Amino acid sequence: MAHIQKVALAGATGALGPHMLKALLDLQFDVTVLVRQGSTSKLPDSIKTIVVDYNNVPSLVAALKGQDAVISTLAASAVPLQINLVDAAIEANVKRFIPSEYGCDMRNERARNLPFFAQKNVVRAYLEEKSQSTSLTYSYIYNVVFLDYGVSNGLLIDLKNKKLDLMDDGNRLSTVTPLSHVARATVAVLKHPEETKNRPVLVHGAQLSQRKLLELSQRVVGSEGWQITEVSSEKGEEEAWRNFKAAPQDVMGWILGFLRRAVYGEGYGGDLSQDNDNELLGLKVLTDDEILEIIKFASS
Ligand SMILES: NC(=O)c1ccc[n+]([C@@H]2O[C@H](COP(=O)([O-])OP(=O)(O)OC[C@H]3O[C@@H](n4cnc5c(N)ncnc54)[C@H](OP(=O)(O)O)[C@@H]3O)[C@@H](O)[C@H]2O)c1
Repeated sequence: MAHIQKVALAGATGALGPHMLKALLDLQFDVTVLVRQGSTSKLPDSIKTIVVDYNNVPSLVAALKGQDAVISTLAASAVPLQINLVDAAIEANVKRFIPSEYGCDMRNERARNLPFFAQKNVVRAYLEEKSQSTSLTYSYIYNVVFLDYGVSNGLLIDLKNKKLDLMDDGNRLSTVTPLSHVARATVAVLKHPEETKNRPVLVHGAQLSQRKLLELSQRVVGSEGWQITEVSSEKGEEEAWRNFKAAPQDVMGWILGFLRRAVYGEGYGGDLSQDNDNELLGLKVLTDDEILEIIKFASS
């Protein structure tokens, strides 16, 4: 497969986007950021940007002309807009499309069938169909949980209020990956286009149980005054299904139950330690000290 040099990045702000932009620039890719019309996000003047309308395929085709690859780090809420982006990438002769995935291993049927992933499933199915009849290829990045993001926003553990919902016995090992690793892995895919063509690429930051996360966090914020609640991931999923069926539009009623089940549930594929692409992508597994540094940074 031909060399990839020119990369369009859709969604360079937010949580993952800035890390992706940095990783691309660090490896001297020629980057153009696609910015949605009306965006108030700011990027440095040195960054090439093109304003696009994600609902208008010709505007996307014009932006993608001459690009070798598209990396999308669009928000979960903007995932359906990627169908237009795929159509435009095909028309502009883009070689590789990396859609906004960056979560659980969607090869796992139990995880894949949770409603949380429905819109991403549609985009992957579309890409797979189109890759049969066009020259567009794809890669999916799976990294399970964003470690630094999850610690700083309290999703993985609430350091500020010293609260943790311990799923099942809290001993299940899951993959946690810092945003910078996810970005470096994604960009490394572009350096290995043939080996990563039309397949999921698995990124493993570290294997971490909630009990270990608690122990490391207590070293940072102290071990006194914690409120630990034991929660069943199975019951959480059942409740999420009930809420989803009653009110699918009320995302807050079901999102956490499904997400926790996908990450901590037995048989949901949340541990990529034994099956990943770290070696190909040149990524090392984090040490406990590195995880500790991430927790310290998140708590500061
Ligand atoms: N594994 C995990 O733990 C984990 C955690 C969080 C997210 N994720 C996944 O990572 C991916 C990126 O998430 P993120 O949290 O980094 O995203 P984000 O910060 O919410 O948003 C990223 C970008 O999306 C753009 N955007 C937002 N709404 C848009 C819309 N309606 N139309 C067009 N562009 C829009 C934003 O553009 P503007 O700058 O114009 O606002 C921003 O650049 C998603 O697939 C998400 O599901 C994974």
